Amino acid sequence: MTGDSISIIRTRCPDARAWVAFILGSGLGGLADLVDGASIDYADLPGFPQVGVSGHSARLVLGKLAGVDVAVLSGREHYYENGRADAMRVPLETLAALGVEVLFATNACGSFRADIPPGDLMLIRDHINYSGRSPLIGEPTDRRFVNLTKAYDPGLRQSLTDAATSEGIDLLDGVYAWYSGPNFEAPAEIKMLHMMGADAVGMSTVPEVILGRFLDIRCCAVSVVTNMAAGLGNETISHEHTKASAPVGAAKLQRIILRFLADLEAK
Ligand code: HPA
Repeated sequence: MTGDSISIIRTRCPDARAWVAFILGSGLGGLADLVDGASIDYADLPGFPQVGVSGHSARLVLGKLAGVDVAVLSGREHYYENGRADAMRVPLETLAALGVEVLFATNACGSFRADIPPGDLMLIRDHINYSGRSPLIGEPTDRRFVNLTKAYDPGLRQSLTDAATSEGIDLLDGVYAWYSGPNFEAPAEIKMLHMMGADAVGMSTVPEVILGRFLDIRCCAVSVVTNMAAGLGNETISHEHTKASAPVGAAKLQRIILRFLADLEAK
């Protein structure tokens, strides 16, 4: 399937190549509109997800952003949709074949930390795979034994921290816990995850970063905090609330991304 999607992309965009790939989370789709290039619906790409979550679109955008060749996966399939932790494997393999060396995942999350409140961003330093699922279950080769020691690339994290500083935006780092969803967490689970060392919780990203490392792609990820996690805030947690709140952090994230890419290009 990966081969099929690559040949369709090459037919539709003969010059297609990308260095940095983005995966856009709930309410963060605006970045795709800034790319100067072509767009292909996932429906036309074998093995790409048929995205069914409101707040997510379903298209691959290839082109230039801040002078850099990028691929934007606008929309992801989550584990909770069909029970497939490897749902993003074909898209990521396809992008690796187009030359992608950097994966930048974004998501919405619930924060555990008063100093990273809703509307702020969290740079993911490490993760806790609380779902216990791996996208590499069933992978027959020894490549499945992926080392996650520096899964969130220290060099990219430094570049993102520098970009945030240049833009005057707070970007504290923290540990992201992957919860399967689709229900939100119980307050007792949040208490437990916090005790385990997590700073925020969400329903995505971790399987994609595992796949990214499997494909030897350098990874980084930023969470947009849409709410305090269950039991820690006064707002009523809901998907509607996530979609309504994401644009505040998304606007900051967009500025950091444009600066990060311009700096990468200049190096
Ligand atoms: N939990 C899980 N996923 C989320 C949350 C949350 O509180 N907020 C946004 N995505």
